Amino acid sequence: MTSFALAHTNLALVKYWGKEDEKLRLPSAPSLSLTLDAFYTKTKLSLSKEDRFVLDGKEEKGKEAQRVFSYLSTLLSFFALPPSHFFVDSQNFVPKSAGFASSASAFCALAAAFAKEMKLTVSKRELSIASRLGSGSAARSVFGGFVLWKEGRESGESFAVPIEEKSSMPICILYLSFGAEKKKVSSTEGMRLSKSSPFFTSWRQECRKACKEAQKAIEDNSFERLGQISEKNACQMHALTLSSGFSYLSPHSLRALDLAKEIREEGVGCYWSCDAGSNAALLCRKEDLNFIQKRAEKAFSGAVSCFCASAGPGVEAWSED
Ligand code: PMV
Repeated sequence: MTSFALAHTNLALVKYWGKEDEKLRLPSAPSLSLTLDAFYTKTKLSLSKEDRFVLDGKEEKGKEAQRVFSYLSTLLSFFALPPSHFFVDSQNFVPKSAGFASSASAFCALAAAFAKEMKLTVSKRELSIASRLGSGSAARSVFGGFVLWKEGRESGESFAVPIEEKSSMPICILYLSFGAEKKKVSSTEGMRLSKSSPFFTSWRQECRKACKEAQKAIEDNSFERLGQISEKNACQMHALTLSSGFSYLSPHSLRALDLAKEIREEGVGCYWSCDAGSNAALLCRKEDLNFIQKRAEKAFSGAVSCFCASAGPGVEAWSED
């Protein structure tokens, strides 16, 4: 038997940045995301005599393979199963060469394919907890549309829940890639460093408040309010890293922040976001996407690659004999 899973990435509108427990990946605050339709990981997994990992058609033996097999042994202990070996073949439909992270879709797909292959009956809540153990943001990719990841004080309490799997909000994300420079500070290290910020307590409180406000904005179908909340939260996350002595932002990321403001001043809803890298994302309405893409290409004199996404579905898994 071979099992398959397909999981989409997500963009955090309220960011997960800080862990209370590094091993269990318990976050310091709740986060809220939008699962995306355009970027995903497809993973094929089967029991095997030896561990083998193929990524995008290439056999991996280094660090990436180590992380996959250490995660699979975490899953075996989590589900109280005896040691086993696996053949894992993953394909990332995420423009990695453009500097986009794929850990959310990768670990969510891995957890779902594992559960299928081991014939486990798992609820979506359990699958979210299991995905979280691979990468925090993967907990949210279990569901489609708008998703909230509760902070939780212990492992069984920290999982994602769907807010609106099929939202009628015409929200779109325009990713702006300025090239794929190697990340200087990994998200694990960045989160660790950020805990020493004198503003860390305020950051946690702001995220809790932002999640409540964002949920209300989604309920009211208010793109403008959701955009404002997201941009403010992304700015606060980057202020937190700066206050801990480092930053992911480049002059291009900051130019994108100004651009969103300029576009708003022209009366078009456009809001900025940026994760643990210098590439930026602009949130807009579907109908404004072409206009905003043209403005971005002009602002960066063509030195930008644009990728569009809108709301996508939750994870899917199946088996074949
Ligand atoms: O799940 P990780 O460890 O790759 O961390 C994700 C961190 C951010 O992308 C910056 C924020 C988020 O909530 O996705």
